[in-house]
Amino acid sequence: MTLRDRIAEIIQGEGPIPVSTYMALCLHDPQAGYYSTQSGLGRDFITAPEISQVFGELLGLWAVHEWHALGAPSPFILAELGPGHGSLMCDALRAASRHADFMAAMQLWLVEASPKLRAVQKERLARFDPHHIDDWRALPEAPAITLANEFLDCLPARQFVRTGHGWAERVVGLDPSGGLCFGLAEPAGDEPREASEGAAGELDVQPALGEIAERLAAREAPFRALFIDYGPMTDPPGETLRAFLENEQVDPLADPGRADLTVDVDFARFSRLARARGLDVAGPVQQGALLRQLGIQARLDQLVAANPDEAQTIFHAVSRLVDPDAMGARFKAVCLSNPGLPAPAAFETGPG
Ligand SMILES: C[S@@+](CC[C@H](N)C(=O)[O-])C[C@H]1O[C@@H](n2cnc3c(N)ncnc32)[C@H](O)[C@@H]1O
Repeated sequence: MTLRDRIAEIIQGEGPIPVSTYMALCLHDPQAGYYSTQSGLGRDFITAPEISQVFGELLGLWAVHEWHALGAPSPFILAELGPGHGSLMCDALRAASRHADFMAAMQLWLVEASPKLRAVQKERLARFDPHHIDDWRALPEAPAITLANEFLDCLPARQFVRTGHGWAERVVGLDPSGGLCFGLAEPAGDEPREASEGAAGELDVQPALGEIAERLAAREAPFRALFIDYGPMTDPPGETLRAFLENEQVDPLADPGRADLTVDVDFARFSRLARARGLDVAGPVQQGALLRQLGIQARLDQLVAANPDEAQTIFHAVSRLVDPDAMGARFKAVCLSNPGLPAPAAFETGPG
């Protein structure tokens, strides 16, 4: 039975399902979910660490700096949420490897839902002896530096629509011919009220953002957690659910499990929830600004000088990361920390 047929069966039995339930089934169903069966990274979409090695290198050096800000704990956890092909971490640890004390204290933890991607990461990062888990909630209690690039946008979202009678929830149901279709239902729970600050007519809400803030706030050991993703800086994202297959945007209901599903991250809400839990929040800042603060120009100059024949390619890749018309402005970075630490490096310059 296809995933589409199984979803139709669930709807027949239980009624229309929230978009977040649909998204979770499409991405993580153990037999047919997108991340369970394939690794569309590179085929359906491309990410910053796959575009240029400089991205991971700069984050690796940032992690070394922040480890010192944490008091150079030993041992400590270096964690990555959703490491994909492991490129970010390979580049980060190559850059960090000159810092022997950091490397000696570091225990690598990779949080990955996809068995296929876990196998890729295991092979590429074998010499660092990584611990793999598939649920971020299972990260052990210890001093930690966490990196997460394009992880938050995969977390299931509920969708709310303002109607003449207040907020309704968008659900996935069946049309008269048995096809999947969107509809509206009475929303359960408190999410629309809590999340709707500044929202216009439509609103995507990722319940996991609140849970991440809550779990981080409950940690006793010092930590920094750096999240980079796409989404607006200050306004709620509106209706942003998108499906990608082979680098084309497709209908999210057309072929459950085959296409990647994603939403914009509500950085304002994430920051608000983290602050409300007592965490320190740095950012959000634009990715371009973060990378410039981290010295991307100097690293670009070095790479070009060492590889003059590839200067054009290197330059174009790095430009894509910082150019406001490419990824530089659309992607944002936010860093959550336990209170009492100095501000993290590269977040001092405001949002631009
Ligand atoms: C868009 S890819 C980004 C990959 C990588 N960070 C990069 O920048 O190239 C999302 C990654 O998060 C993983 N992922 C998605 N949802 C997850 C979840 N709930 N738990 C753990 N991993 C998840 C995917 O399998 C994939 O590795």
